[in-house]
Amino acid sequence: MVKVKFLGHAAFLIEGSKKILIDPFLTGNPKAAAKPEELEADLILVTHAHGDHIGDAIEIAKRTGAKIVAMYDIANYIGEQGNVEVVGMNYGPTEIDGVGIVQVPAWHSSSDGKYGIGNACGYIIELDGVKIYHAGDTFVFKDMELFAELYGPIDVALLPIGGHFTMGVKEAAKAVEFLKPKKVVPMHYNTWPPIAADPEEFKRLVGDRAEVIVLEPGETLEL
Ligand code: NI
Ligand code: MN
Repeated sequence: MVKVKFLGHAAFLIEGSKKILIDPFLTGNPKAAAKPEELEADLILVTHAHGDHIGDAIEIAKRTGAKIVAMYDIANYIGEQGNVEVVGMNYGPTEIDGVGIVQVPAWHSSSDGKYGIGNACGYIIELDGVKIYHAGDTFVFKDMELFAELYGPIDVALLPIGGHFTMGVKEAAKAVEFLKPKKVVPMHYNTWPPIAADPEEFKRLVGDRAEVIVLEPGETLEL
């Protein structure tokens, strides 16, 4: 069984034969469902360099010995800031410690808030036969059809719906058409007022194209 635990904002813990943290922004996250010192991880995947995604990755990696996976340039940036093991990659497939990882494009910026660092990405993770797509921060784009064609069927897609910085509910519902996932979990909304969104409206727009599962921070989906 693979468990997908929502930790708030875009942070997830995926637990199967390995523990994989994605975008562990907890300190300063008003919706955080865990403290960084409580978490264990083998791999930490970072989608881009913005603070609400790198978050506590370095601190958690230092304590647990987890490897941080990120785009090559972002991995170098993270590696410079702390004594942590980084795996730099770029858009494409790889396998790290028995976990299938495809780094896929995302339409978004990536910077330390001012200066650009690498590009934004999403990840398609295959753990114990379960395929999970974390979109990172992105607008919708039709190449998401290619992700489904090359790497599907996607068991669960974790999609931003908050608007302002990413897709809103309308765009994310369109992404579901392209990705054809079995299940969808909305993320990156209601953390702060600019990204307020109604997950029930998202659910209505997706209709019967996929099962929308609204996780409150701290809740877990079992696959
Ligand atoms: Ni961002
Ligand atoms: Mn973000």
